[in-house]
Amino acid sequence: MNCPAPPQPDDEVPYIPPSRRRLLSWLVGGLSALLAGFIGIPFIAALLTPVLQPKSKGAWVALGPVADFPAGTFTAADYLSPSNDGWMKSSMQQTVWVQNSESGVIALSAICTHAGCRVGWHHNLNRFVCPCHGGQYDASGRVISGPPPRPLTRFMAKVEGGTIYVKSA
Ligand code: FES
Repeated sequence: MNCPAPPQPDDEVPYIPPSRRRLLSWLVGGLSALLAGFIGIPFIAALLTPVLQPKSKGAWVALGPVADFPAGTFTAADYLSPSNDGWMKSSMQQTVWVQNSESGVIALSAICTHAGCRVGWHHNLNRFVCPCHGGQYDASGRVISGPPPRPLTRFMAKVEGGTIYVKSA
């Protein structure tokens, strides 16, 4: 009795010449890359768009009517500074010292440049004094004495329609 010969691999898989096989693999690879591009590029673009958008340059924020800021001295004003990092909009409370005079409006940050304590205006001394380490600044924000490494940050300020505005950072 004769048994049939076992099937050979070459008998089951049709022979494809190398050039057709290479063409098919390029075709499959190309289609896969195209599909990945159709899915991946919009995803990456959506992820990176907020980063690539130009950063906001600050906004004018109303501090209050001119009458609330008597001439010849500094008055503290709190405001909410809007911020937008591309993914999230938020606002942060800021305090500025504002002096309104005939020569214009000065707005200085109340944050000490040494370690971030809140400076106070001492009218009798004509200077800002930091309660933490004794840093002192003159009326234009320059350091007079103590450890602060830099002047107080100065913000753009203006009067418009009887209201004082400051440009947030
Ligand atoms: S935090 Fe103001 S002097 Fe140190």
